[in-house]
Amino acid sequence: MIRLSLPITTERLTLRPFTPDDLEDLYAYQSLPEVARYLFRPPLTRDQCVQSLARRVAGTAWAEDGDDLVVAVCRTGGATVVGEVVLKLASARACQAEIGWIFNPAYGGRGYATEAASATASLAFAELGVHRLFARLDVLNSGSVRVCERLGMRREAHLVENDLDGERWGSEYVYATLAHEWKADRA
Ligand SMILES: CC(C)(COP(=O)(O)OP(=O)(O)OC[C@H]1O[C@@H](n2cnc3c(N)ncnc32)[C@H](O)[C@@H]1OP(=O)(O)O)[C@@H](O)C(=O)NCCC(=O)NCCS
Repeated sequence: MIRLSLPITTERLTLRPFTPDDLEDLYAYQSLPEVARYLFRPPLTRDQCVQSLARRVAGTAWAEDGDDLVVAVCRTGGATVVGEVVLKLASARACQAEIGWIFNPAYGGRGYATEAASATASLAFAELGVHRLFARLDVLNSGSVRVCERLGMRREAHLVENDLDGERWGSEYVYATLAHEWKADRA
């Protein structure tokens, strides 16, 4: 089991582990079709949120490919979870990790996703020994593309019709940054 050094605060946000009290906040955004639109899966049911929250609260390892950590994002001074940032270990051998973000649209358009993702990426490099951090996103997910670009990640690939989203062929961008690039950009 691994625990990041949480909570941490950014200019406006507090990043902390999920707690059993977060179910309603989690369900509020994970159940929305507009939130799931580019996630290549349906919105989560309440039962799926219960199960997902239980896993988050129990904590996870960071040792094998596929292990993941999910950070809850709140506005500092408030208890409501406004979104989450996910880190997934893609290759333990090569220290490669994937980052993702899901936010409640009620709190969108304020820079919270970028602020939280930036802090989480710094944690991944500082505490998890990540060498390369990447994000994969549907090319139509323009909000997410802008988050990657605001973070200073490099667009490394455009995968064309590499997934099937219902009846639609989905295409993806891969964005990435290396530990030394991230640190140099913020020095
Ligand atoms: C992807 C997602 C997190 C992006 O959310 P977002 O609200 O657009 O992103 P941010 O929170 O970083 O906000 C950025 C916007 O806030 C604006 N903003 C307003 N006030 C701001 C402030 N004080 N500081 C910074 N930005 C501010 C920025 O200009 C920017 O607007 P723009 O994108 O129109 O240029 C969100 O759409 C989402 O959760 N989608 C569903 C899940 C999903 O698809 N996840 C990605 C899977 S790969």
